[in-house]
Amino acid sequence: MPAKTYDEIAPHYDRAIRPLERWFLARLRETAFRYLPADARVLEIGAGTGLNFVFYPDNAFGVATEPSGGMLRVAREKDRPDRLRLVQNSAEQLPFRDQVFDAAFASLVFCSLAQPLAAFAELRRVVKPGGTVILLEHVRPANLLGPAFDLLNVFTVRLFHDHFNRRTAAVAQASGLELVKVQRSFCGIINLITCRV
Ligand SMILES: C[S@@+](CC[C@H](N)C(=O)[O-])C[C@H]1O[C@@H](n2cnc3c(N)ncnc32)[C@H](O)[C@@H]1O
Repeated sequence: MPAKTYDEIAPHYDRAIRPLERWFLARLRETAFRYLPADARVLEIGAGTGLNFVFYPDNAFGVATEPSGGMLRVAREKDRPDRLRLVQNSAEQLPFRDQVFDAAFASLVFCSLAQPLAAFAELRRVVKPGGTVILLEHVRPANLLGPAFDLLNVFTVRLFHDHFNRRTAAVAQASGLELVKVQRSFCGIINLITCRV
């Protein structure tokens, strides 16, 4: 059975993720947005159906990018700050000039990317030196649960192109970003990662 594409997942995404939003995810999204500097020109990658839009301050400005037309269609229906543009694009090849953003943000995206290092290289290119990159990601926990996530990964990649054993903080650091802080929750499965360019 071929893995579901995000165009296929799009109409069901918000409903499927709602229990996690209520349990902890919405709270973590809100926390993640507090780490973005005020008055920053922000880039969001893999914005999906726009579940982060409610956490942007009203005066936020920048671009939210997303490759799936289906996910974007749902996102366009949601309220968002007037100066937050929506652009269809992949994180590995961003259509922006060098150093035009003050900060970048992604939630639950690096588990889905085919080439995480290429996406980090693009973030390093488009975010100004000293700028902030905030990631809210599920990762391979660095404890006894790790091997279980390696096993789970075999199925999640086949079903949803979703990698359950990514070491996203380490990959960010390997890409040349400075790792400022990693806040781990749920036995290290969920990471709120703060990096500096
Ligand atoms: C699990 S969803 C997360 C969506 C949203 N960020 C959220 O927090 O609800 C993963 C998202 O990554 C996007 N994605 C997949 N490949 C991508 C790529 N190469 N570049 C950017 N985004 C990508 C998918 O289309 C999807 O919207």
